[in-house]
Amino acid sequence: GLALIVVGPGCQKENKQITLGFSQIGAESEWRTANTKSIEESAKAAGIDLKLSDAQQKQENQIKAIRSFIAQKVDVIAFSPVVETGWEPVLREAKEAKIPVILTDRAVDTKDDTLWVSFMGSDFVEEGRRAAKWLVEKTKDQKDPINIVELQGTVGSAPAIDRKKGFEEIIKDKPQFKILRSQTGDFTRAKGKEVMEAFLKAEGKNINVLYAHNDDMAIGAIQAIEEAGLKPGKDILIISIDAVKGAFEAMMAGKLNVTVECSPLLGPQLMSAVKDLVAGKQLPKRIVTEEGVFPMETAAQEFPKRKY
Ligand code: AHR
Repeated sequence: GLALIVVGPGCQKENKQITLGFSQIGAESEWRTANTKSIEESAKAAGIDLKLSDAQQKQENQIKAIRSFIAQKVDVIAFSPVVETGWEPVLREAKEAKIPVILTDRAVDTKDDTLWVSFMGSDFVEEGRRAAKWLVEKTKDQKDPINIVELQGTVGSAPAIDRKKGFEEIIKDKPQFKILRSQTGDFTRAKGKEVMEAFLKAEGKNINVLYAHNDDMAIGAIQAIEEAGLKPGKDILIISIDAVKGAFEAMMAGKLNVTVECSPLLGPQLMSAVKDLVAGKQLPKRIVTEEGVFPMETAAQEFPKRKY
């Protein structure tokens, strides 16, 4: 609603409540839960009225949510697109309604980039490169072939596509590295465990390395590896992405070798972008999150400092 604050005689200031519609992907991972919390807390702190909708990992639910935000005439729409493609029609509807759209965390693949104003989040290709660079360095004295299995994220999602691409880019001219199997575990622990069981059944002791596109799938896979009588982190080197607390616990237990950071704490940045937009300021088209890499050896020291 519109409220008027009287600041002085003859001088009135408009104080409009800002409404933000946010379509979240779901609650598939520890990362996602931390991301949702960051958005909720920072909206509250910024005095922004947040309408948050959970799509339970389904694009059709996100499209519905965005349409409902348009119907409610929110000031700004933000969302983390579950997959990259298929957004043109609904983004066009938002544009026609003159509601600006901010992408957080994941990108969309559209020909017309005027359909969204800004994209804030990680560089997923770089995360994939960092994962592979750690492996190359770790195994630099090894002459034998190195057999890798890969747990991919959600099919068609930006992080799954880009993390695969960045990793492959680094190992492609190094013939000792071979990706034996690559399958989606949908970014969840349960699926990560299930697919790792299948990998172990098919490849047995041939597997030297697991590259998981997120920590949750790695944690699920660790269970499968232990149940198969092998030692995660030793018999099989494990690399994953996110750097959530669960990953640090696994590293401190010696079961995960390295995690590449992907920060979910996008809330404060999003709220200030929303305020800037409403104030008529122009946003940068791309805002990249700064992140690090945490090998097992640093886990105990870093753990107390982790915020998610
Ligand atoms: O888009 C970011 C990814 O989505 C995180 O790496 C993963 O854990 C989450 O589900």
